[in-house]
Amino acid sequence: MSPPPIIAIDGPAAGVSPRPIIAIDGPAAAGKGTLARRISAALRLPYLDTGLLYRAVGRRVLEAGGDPADPLAAEAAARALAAADLDRHDLRGPEADAAAAAVAAIGGVRAALLAFQRNFGAANGAVLDGRDIGTVIFPDAPVKLFITASLEERARRRWLELRAKGVDAELATVTEDMRLRDTQDAARVAAPLRPADDAVLLDTTYLDAAAAFAAAMRAVRERLPAM
Ligand code: CDP
Repeated sequence: MSPPPIIAIDGPAAGVSPRPIIAIDGPAAAGKGTLARRISAALRLPYLDTGLLYRAVGRRVLEAGGDPADPLAAEAAARALAAADLDRHDLRGPEADAAAAAVAAIGGVRAALLAFQRNFGAANGAVLDGRDIGTVIFPDAPVKLFITASLEERARRRWLELRAKGVDAELATVTEDMRLRDTQDAARVAAPLRPADDAVLLDTTYLDAAAAFAAAMRAVRERLPAM
């Protein structure tokens, strides 16, 4: 994949060098994205939603008429991925969810996307969210957060998001799709979803976005007092 885009940031926070990596992992719709964006803004670090990489690879395969579970087709799509693919407007929704989970189970796809993710954080630090940021992509990250919430609450949030976009989905279907994808993500051989041994676990079932952010920032400051 082509080099990461240059992201303008305000410059390093005083006294902090080098710029840190904040790794945020967890299952679908646990609140990683909202949290990651807030932390990124607060610490003036670039943000990468790594799920978009897998979603874009899945889309490329579907577009070419292929099967996202086919290793040859998926690896070719991952190698051909360009930064502009991440701006596509069709990376969300049930079809993109399933295609992303299928390509993400293929080791060759993950290998093809590794350097892009590492380079993204190399120069200026970064906040990255995904499934394997703290375990595989940045195992030495000084801050690792593993965000969870009950399946029911996560499905409810995703259902509300879909409804807000005008998609008329059944809550039961959203719940079942999510259960299936979580099982796939956790059971796969290549970089399965699991908390790193040194991750801070944060359950957001009963936390709104502001409370989750406050709890996450306490964990960040415990690990990085200069931030
Ligand atoms: O937004 P949501 O939590 O539903 O999903 P996402 O973070 O965009 O990830 C979509 C899919 O990509 C996941 O179900 C995983 O299979 C895969 N993924 C992954 O394997 N590793 C990552 N670092 C990020 C996503």
